Amino acid sequence: MRLILAPMEGVMDHNMRDLLTGINSFDLCITEFVRVTDTLLPNRVFYRACPELLQGGKTANGTLVRLQLLGSHPEFMARNALRAVQLGSPGIDINFGCPSKTVNKNRGGAILLREPDLLYAIVRAVRAVLPPDVPVTAKIRLGYEDKSLFLENARAIEQAGAAELAVHARTKAEGYRPPAHWEYIGKIRENLRIPVIANGEIWNHRDARRCCEISGCSDLMIGRPSLVTPNITTMIRYAVNPMQWHNVLQLIHQLSDLDRITDKWQYLPARIKQWLNYLRRAYPQAQNLFERIRILRQTEPVLAILESDLAAITIPR
Ligand SMILES: Cc1cc2nc3c(=O)[nH]c(=O)nc-3n(C[C@H](O)[C@H](O)[C@H](O)COP(=O)(O)O)c2cc1C
Repeated sequence: MRLILAPMEGVMDHNMRDLLTGINSFDLCITEFVRVTDTLLPNRVFYRACPELLQGGKTANGTLVRLQLLGSHPEFMARNALRAVQLGSPGIDINFGCPSKTVNKNRGGAILLREPDLLYAIVRAVRAVLPPDVPVTAKIRLGYEDKSLFLENARAIEQAGAAELAVHARTKAEGYRPPAHWEYIGKIRENLRIPVIANGEIWNHRDARRCCEISGCSDLMIGRPSLVTPNITTMIRYAVNPMQWHNVLQLIHQLSDLDRITDKWQYLPARIKQWLNYLRRAYPQAQNLFERIRILRQTEPVLAILESDLAAITIPR
C-alpha cells in the first residue's frame, strides 16, 4: 500500500511536511498549489512553495515531494511545469479539485471539471514539455455541480498522458461534507490503466480497509487525518491507536522550532491554533489548550504555555 500526504494550502507547508514525514511512512508528498496565470513565475515562487527543491526534491527524511500547479492556460502551465522540474521537482501534479470561489472564478481548480477537453489540453501540454521519466499526475474531485462527467474527466487525464490520478471522492458542491463516495473511485479505477489514488475521509485503519475494498485501490492519499492524528500512517498500516497527547505536544513544540528558523515565526500562534482546531477532533486536551491560547496574538506567550504544559507532563516509561 502506498500512502501519500495530501496537498493542503495554508497548512501543509514544508515544515509540516518535515514533521509528519519524520514520524510516518509516507511514500510521497504533494505541495500546496502554485497558482499559474499567464506568466512564467519567478524561481522564488517555486522555492517558497517547495523549499525541498534545494535538497533534491525530498523532505529531510528522504520522502519525495512533488510540486502541484493550478491553472487553466495549457501553455503557461507547461512552461511553469518545466521550470519547476528544472529547479528540481521530481514530478508535477495538477490541481483540478480546488473548490475556492476566488480560484474557481479565475478558472482554476474544480471549475475545470466541467471541461474535459481542457483537462486533456492542460495535461497534454505539461506532459509534452517534460522529460519522459518525470511523472505528470493530476488530482480531481468527482465533478463540479454533479458527477455526470467523472469518468470522462478521468479518461481525458489518462489519455493526455498522466502517470497517475488522485481522486477526492466528492464534487465541488459537496465540499467537505461526509461521506466520500469511494464507489465512484472504484468505477474510475476499473476504467483506467494508470494507478488511481483514493482520497477523502480515510481517518483510520478501518476506513482505509473499507476504502480499499470499495474502490479496489491500494494507494491512498491522506489530508486532514494526518493533522488530527499525526501518527496516521502507523494507524493505517498497523491498526495502532492515535499517539499519546504528550507526544503530540512535543510535535507542536518541534514545529515551533522549525518555524523559528524560517520566516514563519510570527505566524506561529495562528498556526498552532489552526492545528489544534484539527487535533481537537481526536484529543480533548487540544480543545483545552486552544481555549487557553485563543486570545493570544504574540508567539512568546503561546510558547510559554506550550512549554509549561510540556514540563508538567510526566512521560510514561
Ligand atoms: C485547508 C485545506 C487545503 C487544501 N489545499 C489543497 C491543495 O492545495 N491542493 C489540492 O489538491 N487539494 C487541497 N485540499 C484537498 C485535500 O488535499 C484533500 O483532497 C481533502 O482534504 C480530502 O481528503 P482528507 O479527507 O484526507 O482530508 C485542501 C484541503 C483542505 C482542508
